[in-house]
Amino acid sequence: MDFSTKSADKKNSLQTIKTDCLVIGIYNNGGLADKSPSPVLQETAAKLYATGDIDGKAGSTLLAQSPDGIAAKRLLLVGLGTSPTSGKDFRKAIDSCLTVLKPLNVANITLALPIDAIDDSIPQTIYTIVTGFYNRAYRIGAMKKDKTPASKIRKVALFMPSDKVSIAKTALLQAKAINEGRQYAKDLGNLPANICTPSYLAKQAKDLAKEYGFTVEILEKKQIESLKMGSFLSVARGSDEPPRFIVLKHLKGKSKTAPAVLVGKGITFDSGGISLKPGAGMDEMKYDMCGAASVLGTFKAIGELGLKQNIIGLIPTCENMPSGKANRPGDIVTSMSGQTIEILNTDAEGRLILCDALTFAERFKPAAVIDIATLTGACIIALGHINSGLFTRMDDAHDALAEALSTAAKHVDDPIWRLPIEDAYQSQLDSNFADMANVGGRPAGSITAACFLERFTRQYVWAHLDVAGTAWKSGSDKGATGRPVPLLCQWLLERQP
Ligand code: BES
Ligand code: MN
Ligand code: ZN
Repeated sequence: MDFSTKSADKKNSLQTIKTDCLVIGIYNNGGLADKSPSPVLQETAAKLYATGDIDGKAGSTLLAQSPDGIAAKRLLLVGLGTSPTSGKDFRKAIDSCLTVLKPLNVANITLALPIDAIDDSIPQTIYTIVTGFYNRAYRIGAMKKDKTPASKIRKVALFMPSDKVSIAKTALLQAKAINEGRQYAKDLGNLPANICTPSYLAKQAKDLAKEYGFTVEILEKKQIESLKMGSFLSVARGSDEPPRFIVLKHLKGKSKTAPAVLVGKGITFDSGGISLKPGAGMDEMKYDMCGAASVLGTFKAIGELGLKQNIIGLIPTCENMPSGKANRPGDIVTSMSGQTIEILNTDAEGRLILCDALTFAERFKPAAVIDIATLTGACIIALGHINSGLFTRMDDAHDALAEALSTAAKHVDDPIWRLPIEDAYQSQLDSNFADMANVGGRPAGSITAACFLERFTRQYVWAHLDVAGTAWKSGSDKGATGRPVPLLCQWLLERQP
């Protein structure tokens, strides 16, 4: 999809612009959102409003075919509620426009919406528009014979005052890059586990590296053994699929600037292992690599934007399967950090692969490390499918990181909610036989999971994102969401020097 900006000049006015559909906003008092509409447009809109078929409330719509005196083939009036319109109402309005447009034979659309009269900033508003179009056009097509695109829309022009064009252009580039990255993460997430294996993810990382000039290293089993990642390897051992440890580097900042490190959980299928999961819904455990997919998606966006920063991506990836070689409950393994772990539940495998990746991250002397993982069912109980869980230690440096992430999350409507990591929870991980157990019982299940990871992150500033409830949707709408790619990209953009 192609997005561009247009503004009124001698050639273009809303009245004369050639487009399959012109979209204009109307408030709930009947007033047009456009400040200087042509008399013809004003009259047409007034007539349409007078029919009573649109009340101007946020999300109300009315479509007119071949409107008199206007070059556009269709005119779509959309209600924006009050002026200025809240971000929420604007999202509602965009959503209803897209519902009306979906079945229509329109390839080329012009949006003349008041991007400077929304409570959100102009870049946020542009992000809302672009994201709406991307989401509607998305189709899970990789494994289907029918490749018909979900949307006929090819070109979207944003009509705006000329003094807003420059800020809008930058915002468009960023919004497109974020959505490309998000879409890429969705595609990976939606693939089945027999296709999207650890080697497949490694191949994707290589392809991205080639396309955008990243450095990439794919560590295989032997090299992972040399690194003494005994915890990661213990999970991988249960599967016939060989593990991979992916290292992606985008070093476009100053050479002395400490990098940001993103670590993604890449379990390509989580059967639970010997602590086997129940059968119902187990197919959804193909999504247990969504953390990894979000790192790859964010790297795609980083490449598209050519960010001038040092960013490293780490992905430990393997399957969690039951077999004669699989971890048994009670087994004790030695992590790369030297700390030993009693595996009381083989289904708590995410933390077992992440802990070694987090130890590996120390070598980069990072400015900040963020891990992203579909880590605990308990996080869904705590926060549902709305907020991703954010976990950090509770000191000043971590409060600042949590604050920055929360702000970025708001800007791209990819919400997170902070939960505590406190020493008082750590004793739930006590083991009589090893330095720690890998599970802490039912109470505060996502916090004790975070507390487990915390023991491997004491050399740097770190945040953990539990996306178990937000990385995909179940039911008739089943599919990956691509979260938290928008949040990660926005956080990187906002920390841009
Ligand atoms: N990948 C799962 C977490 C998960 C479950 C995400 C359901 C989304 C939906 C993780 O590996 C897991 O199995 N966690 C266990 C931990 C428990 C054994 C302490 C869980 O949440 O049940
Ligand atoms: Mn599991
Ligand atoms: Zn898992």
